[in-house]
Amino acid sequence: MMEDTGEYGLTRRQMLEFSGGASALMMASDGLSPARAAAQTAAPAPLPTTAFTLNINGLDHPLDLDARTTLLDALRNEIGLTGSKKGCDHGQCGACTVLVNGRRINSCLTLAIMHPGDEITTIEGLAAGDNLHPLQAAFIAHDGFQCGYCTPGQICSAAGMMEEAKAGWPSHVSADIAATDIALTGPEIRERMSGNICRCGAYPNIVAAIGDVARGA
Ligand code: FES
Ligand code: FES
Repeated sequence: MMEDTGEYGLTRRQMLEFSGGASALMMASDGLSPARAAAQTAAPAPLPTTAFTLNINGLDHPLDLDARTTLLDALRNEIGLTGSKKGCDHGQCGACTVLVNGRRINSCLTLAIMHPGDEITTIEGLAAGDNLHPLQAAFIAHDGFQCGYCTPGQICSAAGMMEEAKAGWPSHVSADIAATDIALTGPEIRERMSGNICRCGAYPNIVAAIGDVARGA
């Protein structure tokens, strides 16, 4: 039986053969041999990893991670410490704040591999067993949260901030930048905590809670 020849006088078989050849030609003209094109669609090779250990809340955690892993992702995804929150992942909200050697940092902006040998404290490590950290107790007493998403970062940040004030670090609103004894007034607390955003707007109660602890109330 004769095969239909279409508009161009080609059989279906001839048309398929022609289009296969054209594809190979196009790949070759893109600089890709058929073998190379196949390799490009193969599964990617596993990422190289690096072994290191982080000390978090007094415990050593051996890790083997892609060197580009942030401290926040290591805490949450590898170690299971999900108290530190990911709000923006860009250093703008403070939800991921942890303490490294007592200083507050945004854990989304630092790589985990940069911190072997450092003492890292997360919200999970602030309490002493069943005894809440004074800031945790004050946040509860003052109802310093609504949804609670920003709260771990607020509390870690406040803990670091109070040490900064004790050490005499001035802020933008400090009247006397040479003073060594800085009173944590409302304006001082608001300025020093300005890197921690609360989308629920619990700011008045957060400031009251921190003020109580700062005054030893
Ligand atoms: S998640 Fe790190 S600052 Fe927002
Ligand atoms: S309590 Fe909801 S974001 Fe602060």
